[in-house]
This record gives sequence, structure tokens and C-alpha cells, in this order.
Amino acid sequence: MASRNEAPYRPQDRQGVSEMLRGLEGNKGKGKGKGGFSCKKNTFDIDGSNFVDSWRMQDWDYKKQNLPTYARGLFTTNDSKGQPEIVVRGYDKFFNHGEVRETEWENIKRNTRGPYELSVKENGCIIFISGLEDQTLLVCSKHSTGYRQDTDVSHAKAGEDWVERHLKLVGKTRAELAIKLREMNATAVAELCDDEFEEHVLQYTPQAAGLYLHGINLNLPEFATYPHHLVDQFADDWGFKKTMYIVKDDIDEVKTFLEGIGETGHYDGRDTEGFVIRCQSKANSGEWHDWFFKYKFDEPYLMYRQWRECTKAVISGREPKYKKHKKVTEAYINFARKQLHGHPDLAKAYQANHGIIKMRDDFLASCGLEGSDIIRQEAEDGEVTNDNVDRDVVIVPAATIGCGKTTIALSLRSLFGWGHVQNDNITVQKGKPRAFANACCKELEERPAMVADRNNHQKRERKQLIEDISRTVPNAHFVCLNYVHDRSNYNSIRAATRERVLSRGDNHQTIQAGSKGPDAVIEIMEGFMHRFEPVDPESSPDDGFHMVIDIDPTASSRDNLEIVINRLYAEYPKLFAGQDMPSSEDMDAAIDAAMKDYTVDIKHEIKSRDNRGGKQQGMSRATGLNGQPNGKQKEPKVDYFAAQLSATRINAILDTVFRDAPPETARIYNALKQQRRIQADFHVTLIHRAASGEHTEYWHRLLDAHNEASAPTEQRTYTQPEPKLGMCKVGLERLVWDNRVMAFVVRLSPFEEGGVNFPSVNTTAHITVGTAAPNIKPVESNSLLARWLQQGSGASGIAELAIKGNVEVEGTVRGVLQKH
Ligand code: GTP
Ligand code: MG
Repeated sequence: MASRNEAPYRPQDRQGVSEMLRGLEGNKGKGKGKGGFSCKKNTFDIDGSNFVDSWRMQDWDYKKQNLPTYARGLFTTNDSKGQPEIVVRGYDKFFNHGEVRETEWENIKRNTRGPYELSVKENGCIIFISGLEDQTLLVCSKHSTGYRQDTDVSHAKAGEDWVERHLKLVGKTRAELAIKLREMNATAVAELCDDEFEEHVLQYTPQAAGLYLHGINLNLPEFATYPHHLVDQFADDWGFKKTMYIVKDDIDEVKTFLEGIGETGHYDGRDTEGFVIRCQSKANSGEWHDWFFKYKFDEPYLMYRQWRECTKAVISGREPKYKKHKKVTEAYINFARKQLHGHPDLAKAYQANHGIIKMRDDFLASCGLEGSDIIRQEAEDGEVTNDNVDRDVVIVPAATIGCGKTTIALSLRSLFGWGHVQNDNITVQKGKPRAFANACCKELEERPAMVADRNNHQKRERKQLIEDISRTVPNAHFVCLNYVHDRSNYNSIRAATRERVLSRGDNHQTIQAGSKGPDAVIEIMEGFMHRFEPVDPESSPDDGFHMVIDIDPTASSRDNLEIVINRLYAEYPKLFAGQDMPSSEDMDAAIDAAMKDYTVDIKHEIKSRDNRGGKQQGMSRATGLNGQPNGKQKEPKVDYFAAQLSATRINAILDTVFRDAPPETARIYNALKQQRRIQADFHVTLIHRAASGEHTEYWHRLLDAHNEASAPTEQRTYTQPEPKLGMCKVGLERLVWDNRVMAFVVRLSPFEEGGVNFPSVNTTAHITVGTAAPNIKPVESNSLLARWLQQGSGASGIAELAIKGNVEVEGTVRGVLQKH
């Protein structure tokens, strides 16, 4: 063992590496192999001539004995002689205090020695840097490198850019760094902290952004790492930023220090999640080796931090928000309000992080308790913290059609025996949302967790589900499976979900792409995407979720499944009690089965799916298929149904939008205006007679309502305008135009929360603003928007302008009669 003052060095250990690789290969994807773990191998093409393999194990597998290596972040390759070598080596996976046997304080005390280097747990993403034999500098994120199109690679790419900037500072080249690292047989480990690239919890100003070097590891199967002062020296030499750390020699001191920081969650003026402690241990082998553990703040510290946040909220006049320790926190807030009342100086100091501990201690003294007493008491009273939740977990997707909800649900069912209710299997005509919630509750009687398989794409659906289930199961824990729908990403989401749904064919209860034809299905899918309301955990109803797991609708269900399991496992360990974690092979198999073996046995029409509320409106279904009530509708016939808008309002909006635009942008609008080619009336077409065959249900629903409302009564004769069928909200999202036609792309939503929805069956709901000549029909907006969806604006000759702010206008839903 090298002294802590000199750099450790050992050359590649060919035999050790071969052995390690044999161990990894032997457990590749094969369920739990001989080694009792499983791993995934990915090969990356660096530059067409260099190939590296990345090895990845499941988090929980690192807790097992006798693994070929414990490196988290591991890349290997073959050198020019065909000999295997490690090119990138991350730290050994390290655990929280108390998380495993080895990190119980007694064992830490017994088995470790100082100096203990403590650093604040980093807050960006990890980047590995090393040198290949041919002087290529390799920059990797945890599991990726090279130029594949995925997010992890974009981390690696951002890392590359920063490396270049740092090297420039000290006038060195990539090749020089590669040669140096190779000479050291080491991997440089840095944290990429750059808000411009990706925002994390802590803020980094542009001056503070960059790569923070925090470690240098030898490229060996076993873990050997540089002492921190040598890492700093290397950072200075090569232009990297340095990380902050403190050194303590005595483990008791370390413990006291950490517990002290935990009290405020603050260190050096910044919020911290916890610390990483680096030292040496002689556990297992009896020989001193480099070893890390972490100290993440948990109870009662998390409770203290909650109190701190609540106090700050009170001071700044916000409503304090909290989910845990409800009773005691309520009492604390009352106490704090009293203290702060009439003491602006106290409030001001508190905002500057002074007096936090005093406020808390005064409160605890006033009730004669210590923090730990409260936690113990809560546990005895059955106050649920996520750590001991072992039942009543409801998994609620927020998604659109084809995101993979059912695939994930079926996989969770087969892996853990969890419940699953598909909204599409509920065929009751009345009170379907309630029936769905009831079916979910029923699953929880038998099973610890269940998936409420419905799109829940709007807030009112999420609200309904959370409220209805909580009424029957008051302790239910809601986990949102958030298929993130950023509008900027809609085209990729469209591509991914359409592909899946169209190739699924008829194997679905309501969306039968095979027999309905792609256009009809795409329109339904578009409806969901347009109505999608992003999950906002900060506000109602989404603040009812105990946890939100973000997943990417364009990623494979297999990858999403793994994220979901990992997150649930970390948050609700007891939910998995007694079950071994599935290997990656188990997960592959579960997804495979969900995709291949699953067939639906219920099929019915789409109703209440898209048009929930028709029934509540009392729209009876009295029309024949020819679109005429009982075959004898009076002339004239309805041509289309639309949401009509105030022309004054729309014109005012158009004027405002173009007033500040550059002349080139406003050119076509001004021309349309000058030539009086702007529409006199504005509307959003909901459905045209021509589409009634494809959307029979919707057409009939509206037609019935229209006929009912326009039947002559004593007060009403046919000479009056068409009756109002309802109201809706029309959000103006953007203006799109070419030199023939201009339209607003809009978003339709119910007029009030929980109100009736009036979707548009057009691929892109829109308002035609005007056309360039009388022979250009407004319907051309449809083809303009279709081209815009496919090609975007710019080169395609299409221009677009986003409408800033949340501009919404009221729409009046009416049938518009055919002109004679
Ligand atoms: P709806 O019930 O229609 O709203 O869809 P859903 O969100 O439940 O999606 P589902 O799980 O049914 O997935 C849609 C189709 O895509 C099914 O045919 C799946 O088998 C398939 N699918 C799901 N995940 C993947 C994936 O990762 N890759 C591929 N190629 N197909 C997938
Ligand atoms: Mg489904």
C-alpha cells in the first residue's frame, strides 16, 4: 500500500482483467448466473477504429459477495496486441451509512482508518476521462460514450466540450492528457456541473460551470484511488476545477460533524444532500484498501429541513407545503408563527439562515421532546414514512396512447404480482371514472401495489383518481409514472407512439388500428396529445403524488421498466420485501412476454374514452347511422360543428402579435389584412360532416345535442341562430403560415375543471386566420399543418411564431348549417 503522500501506481493486470471479464461475460444477461448477479454489456464505436465495451450492473447487485469487480462505471477494450484492458474505472459502488452491514457505524469504526476525506455529495453528472493506446482521449458518462443518440451520450458530449475548454486554459492538448493518464494507468473522474446544459438542484453560475475533478482511479479490477491533495494537484496542472473537501482523522469526529450538518442541511452556505467519506478499510480481505461510504441526511434531519422550508414559506407569505410528519410539523409551524409574529428582525435573520436551530430547539423544548423521540413516536403511531410502506401503493401513469403503460403494468404484474386495472376493460356506461377507481381499490385488497392503467393525461383525471381512491383507501400512496410530454418533443413522441400503435393492429380494446385505419387512430392519439397537461408536483392535484418518476415516452419500455423498478426500490424497499430483485434477464423476459403474449379479449367502441361527459350532458343516442335523428332530420343539415370565437378578440391578438414582429415576419399578415383576406368569423372545427363516418360516436353525440336543443318549442323557432351546445377554452399556441394560408395551432380544453370536453378530430386543432386568394379554401390549413408537423418551419417555406403567455379565448360550441 502506497503512503498517502505519493501517487499510487500499478500497471494493467492482464490476468486480473481477463478473469474479471470472464466473470462478467458469464453473468451477462443470463438471469442470475453462477455469480448470483447479472450485467449488461454495451459496445461503443469511438471513432471508427476504437471500440470499447461498457459494463453495467444493477444497483442492488453491488450488495452481493464475490463480484468480479465493484466498479460502477467500467469500460474495457482490447489493445493492439489483442490483450484485454480496463480503460475506464469508476469508484467502487458505495453505500449510505447503515444501508449495508459494512456501513453500520460499529463496523465503520472497527474496520476503517483515516485520514477521512469528506466532500459534499456532488450535484451534477459524472464524467470519466482516460487515454487509449493510440493517444485518443476517451470521455464517457456513467455508461456511455461515442456518438449514439441518447441522453447519456449527450452528457459525454457536453463533457468533451468542457475538457477542451479546460485544456485550452493551460495550453495543453487532448493527446497530451491521454498520454499522461495512460502513463498513470488511471481514469480521471469529474463532475459536470453546468446549468446551461442541465439544471440540477444546486445552482452553478456560468463562471462556476465546468468539470470538477474529484478523483483519479487506477484502471484495475480492484479499487485504488488517489488521495485528494494529489487530485487537486492534477486539476491545477490540467485546468480542471477543484472540489472542496475537509479532512478529519478521527471517525467519532466525522460522525459528530456529519450529524451537526444534518441539523440544518446546510454546509458552507449551501444546501447539501449529504457527504461522501473516503478512507481505507480492512473489512473482508483483512488488508487495507481504499473504501468510500456516504452519509445522506435522513430522519430526524429530513424533518428538520422540512421545518426550515416551512418556516421560510411562512416568512415569505407562502402556504407551507409538507407531506411527512404532518402532526408535529403543524404544531411546529404554529410555534414558529408565534415566534415570528412582530419580530421582523428574526424573520430576516432566518432567511439568511440564522436562528434555524434555535427556533427548532425552542420548539422541541416547549414540547419536551427530542427529534429522535418524535420519529420513534411516529413509527409507533404508524405514521408512514416511505421507508416502511409495504402496501397500498397506486402507480398512476400520466401518458398518452401508445406510451407503453400496459406493457409496463403487465411486466410489474409478472415480476412482483402487483395488481393492474385497465380502464379500457371497464365497460360500464355510467360513472366510469368511479368504477375505475373502485376496481383499483379492489386490487389493493389482495396486492401491495397496483397500476391504474389509464392515460390520466389531464389534471381532472388525476384529481378524480387520487380523490376517489383516497376515500376508500385513506393511506394510499400515489406514485406518478410521468411519461414526460414536452411540447418541444412532440414530434419524436408522435413518431414513437404511432409506430407502436399502428403496428399493434387490432390488439387493443378500443384503438383498433388494423380495422379503423391509421388516420382515425392518429386523430385520436393527437387528441390526447393536445389535451395532455404536464404533471406539476408543486400544485394541485399533482401535489397529491408522493413520488413522481419521470420517464421518456420515446425510450423503450424495457429501459423505462428498469428506471421504475430502481426508483421504487430505493423509495419503498419494503414493497419488495422477501423478493429478490429481478435480474436484467428477468426484466427482458417480462417485457418480452408483455409485448408478445398479451392479447386483449374485450373490444368495444371508443366512447367515454375521448368524450367522457357526453352522458353527463344527457345527450341521448337517438340518431340513426345516417346522421339523421330517426331518419327524418329536417333540412338544412349540419355541415360541421365548431367552437366559435370572438372576432374582436382574435383580431386584437393578431394585431398585438404582429405589431412587435420584424417587418419580414409581419409581411404576409399585413398583406392578408390589406387585401381583406382575414376571415370575418373565426372558429375551430371540431368535426366536419365529411369525417362523420370515421367518428360516428362523436358526430352523433353532437348531432343529438344539436337536434335536441333546436327542436321547436314555444320559446324557440327555427329562425333563431343555431343553439349553443356548450363552451370550451381555446388556448392559442402558435401561428403557422406559408404564402397561401395562415392558421393558429390551438389547444382545446373543457371550459371548467371537470367540464365536458369538445375535442377536434382534425390532426391539428386550429383556427384558420385567412387565405391569400378567394380560390384557396380555409380547409387548406389542414395540409399546411400536416406539412408543418412533418417538416417544421424554415426551409419548408413555412413560418411560425409562438404565442407568448398563456393566451386563452372562450369558444362557443355550435353546429354550423350547410349553405344552400
Ligand atoms: P394505450 O392502451 O393504447 O393507451 O397504449 P399503452 O400506453 O398501454 O401502450 P402499450 O403498452 O399497449 O404499447 C403500445 C404497443 O407498443 C404495444 O403493441 C406494445 O407491445 C408495443 N410496445 C411497448 N413498448 C415497446 C417498446 O419498447 N418497443 C417496441 N418496439 N414496442 C413496444
Ligand atoms: Mg394500454
